[in-house]
Amino acid sequence: MPKSYSVAILGATGAVGRELLALLETRNFPLAQLKLLASPRSAGVMLPFKGEPIPVEPADTQSFQGIDLVLASAGGSTSKALAPAAVAAGAVVIDNSSAFRMHPEVPLVVPEVNPHAAAIHQGIIANPNCTTILMSLATYPLHRIQPIRRIVAATYQSASGAGAQAMEEVKLQTQDILAGKSPQTEIFPYPLAFNLFPHNSPLNEFGYCEEEMKMVNETRKIFDSPEIRITATCVRVPVLRAHSEAINLEFDTPFSPDLAREVLAQAPGVELVEDWQANYFPMPIDATGRDPVLVGRIRQDLSHPCGLDLWLCGDQIRKGAALNAVQIAELLVENHWLKPAIATLNA
Ligand code: A2P
Repeated sequence: MPKSYSVAILGATGAVGRELLALLETRNFPLAQLKLLASPRSAGVMLPFKGEPIPVEPADTQSFQGIDLVLASAGGSTSKALAPAAVAAGAVVIDNSSAFRMHPEVPLVVPEVNPHAAAIHQGIIANPNCTTILMSLATYPLHRIQPIRRIVAATYQSASGAGAQAMEEVKLQTQDILAGKSPQTEIFPYPLAFNLFPHNSPLNEFGYCEEEMKMVNETRKIFDSPEIRITATCVRVPVLRAHSEAINLEFDTPFSPDLAREVLAQAPGVELVEDWQANYFPMPIDATGRDPVLVGRIRQDLSHPCGLDLWLCGDQIRKGAALNAVQIAELLVENHWLKPAIATLNA
């Protein structure tokens, strides 16, 4: 009999939490028990799993007794407050928040890129930032062949990155604008419907927002290549749940677009989408609800002999968050890396 595991989803009522629930069901994760946790606001909510309603329980430090694995997507402060208790109770936490990502003792894992990093942990494994996961899938296969020296990225990020309420806000704003009313803003600082704005995360002294610095620092950690130069401009666009990214890569020597195409056509988690005759390339609408990162428009950078441009779209909730987390869980289970935590992190 294969072993099965007691799993808790922390943040089960959120956009990523609901996707985690759906993925555990469709990917047939070996479950002994499933516990759904959220804030006290969700007490009494029932969520369906395999046709059965499961009650959502308010999360606290006592919620993790008997739990092997916690899939956490309830924000950084909740993770900071509850992950150490989960680890102390013997669970391994796969955390979707940014709380622990840059901690030197915490592996930051994209299973297609650095699966080996998940082997050694102290009870917490971090799921990277969504734009970073998507970019890493499309660029690491090239980096393995010929080291990337510099990445210049521009992102077109969907509302889902700010959670389920943000997605609802964009829908309401769209309805209001179409009805001739002025759009209301609660989650986002400005109307997103029929608009876009630079990413609304806090800015640092150099004028970069947090989201942009996540792409810089997390990519370096995942690739284990601290020397890569990376710059990014992150923008929110009125798309519901798939992010897009325009990426310029610089190598030491020219990287032929045909070779890049050949490599990416075979890369795990990537789907090449290019019809040059029809001018058809990845679009968020085609990436939505799907697992792969769609990559296309691979072309020589006319401004640099060693430059390559590409374009990608990926479902932010799925590969950008929930799917990556479930794949980490599968990696741990398949390789017997889900060992009891040996120490509580000094976060
Ligand atoms: P709730 O629905 O009860 O507020 P999203 O990213 O889509 O906004 O979802 C955030 C998730 O995190 C939700 O499931 C939310 O639960 C949960 N959450 C927020 N704050 C807490 C908290 N203090 N403790 C546990 N879960 C929380």
